[in-house]
Amino acid sequence: MPVSKKRKKTEGSTRAAPAPKVPIHRSTVTTIIGLIVALAAVGWLIFGGGPDNAAIQVIVPKLSVEAQAGLQTFERVCQKCHGENLAGSNSGPPLVDPFYKPAHHGDGSIVSAIRKGVRQHHWKFGPMPPQPDVKAAEIPALTTYIREIQRANGVF
Ligand code: HEC
Repeated sequence: MPVSKKRKKTEGSTRAAPAPKVPIHRSTVTTIIGLIVALAAVGWLIFGGGPDNAAIQVIVPKLSVEAQAGLQTFERVCQKCHGENLAGSNSGPPLVDPFYKPAHHGDGSIVSAIRKGVRQHHWKFGPMPPQPDVKAAEIPALTTYIREIQRANGVF
């Protein structure tokens, strides 16, 4: 009996011996995990949060007085889908996209989108419903706002 007790003690201390290695190993793993997390964070910043989040980085220029009026309408009606500064959201595409440059989507397409809505054809957000909340008199300023943000971001 006393022998086995001694053995147990010895075994215990033998098992305990490699213990100092554990913290070294863990810190290496922690460093690797830390690096992976950091890389993922940088990737998220660059690519805007992956496919679930369509928001992109947008430069906001000093807006003309007319564009500032358009911004009011945009914030009231369009922003919930097209995002702050046209950057896009989970419910609608960014309008700062070469696809929406005037040569491809002229000002008439903005009027048409507001009045008739848009069928889903370029993205996977579903269709855009008509926006009867926008008065005809508000459309020119809203268009100016969209074009000023687009121009500042090299869309055209
Ligand atoms: C309920 C969400 C929603 C709201 C609100 C909304 N849109 Fe859209 N809009 C969309 C979606 C989704 C599309 C993309 C459809 C596609 O191409 O698949 C789109 C597309 C567009 C297009 C491209 C039209 C085309 O011909 O392809 C324009 C321009 C546009 N929106 C302007 C506006 C403006 C201006 C407002 C505010 C008055 C607005 N949208 C409000 C969801 C919305």
